Amino acid sequence: MFLVSPTFPEISQPNIEIKVFPDGDSYVRINDMDKCQGEDVSLFHRLYPKQNTAIFNTIQMLHTLKRVGARTTLIAPYFPYSRQDKTFLMGEALSAQVLCKLLVEFGLVKLITVDCHFLKREGEAEYANLKIQNISASRLLVEHARGKIGLEQLEVISPDEGANYLVSEFGGKSMKKERGGHYDNAGAEETYRSVEKVERSFDVKDKNILILDDMIATGGTMIKAVENVKKGGARKVFCAATHGFFLNDSLDKLKKLSDGIFTTNSIPNDVAEVDIVPLLKKALADGQVDAPIRP
Ligand code: R5P
Repeated sequence: MFLVSPTFPEISQPNIEIKVFPDGDSYVRINDMDKCQGEDVSLFHRLYPKQNTAIFNTIQMLHTLKRVGARTTLIAPYFPYSRQDKTFLMGEALSAQVLCKLLVEFGLVKLITVDCHFLKREGEAEYANLKIQNISASRLLVEHARGKIGLEQLEVISPDEGANYLVSEFGGKSMKKERGGHYDNAGAEETYRSVEKVERSFDVKDKNILILDDMIATGGTMIKAVENVKKGGARKVFCAATHGFFLNDSLDKLKKLSDGIFTTNSIPNDVAEVDIVPLLKKALADGQVDAPIRP
């Protein structure tokens, strides 16, 4: 198995060039192509920020590798479009399927990713013909919380049932989320589904609570969850997520509202305190990669 990557200097020597032509077209060149010929190749690439460009660059890399008969596994800590696995209005694109099918079409054999939204469980899966290994960062996040907060008595819960797999092994319960039934226009081109309610059917009074989710995007879910738990009389409330986008002013709001907040570094942000690289290195080691992995 040979290792190629433009974006993970923590893991391997960057050996893919990505540049831009003056008109904005992307240019991609994989070095060491002779070593990829007919081989199993691991491609490490971040698909966020600038996800559309990153996806197109990935397709350029996959096509280049396929042309020399390589079988490529993509390792991407965050998988974009993973929340668009359902349609709500007639005519909407099923973008999660579009992306998976596109990657398969251009030669992707397997995707290794972390807390992929539409899978809702850890382990091996197949979605839109793409084989996916979904790794969970939940253990790292809970371990970090216990070390950072120094509280023995910490209950781990999720803000909705979709994220239950993140908390169930810690005996955690899930709240229930209700999304708004329509899309709000936040601007000429921006769209999102608002969060109406996050409710709870279990007691949190006098407990120290960690609310764990796969991602914090606009913060709508986490803010409502923290408010609910505080109203329920929790002693201290912390929040964490695998992927932290913190759009608009949501990080400031959550810092004020909670007793502490952190995420992994799958997406760069100011509270990315948990390193995702050991999880990725383990996935590599399990795949028995021959190329040198940076210590
Ligand atoms: C969705 O169900 C996810 O698990 C997250 O709860 C959601 O994507 C977070 O988005 P936001 O921060 O915009 O509420």
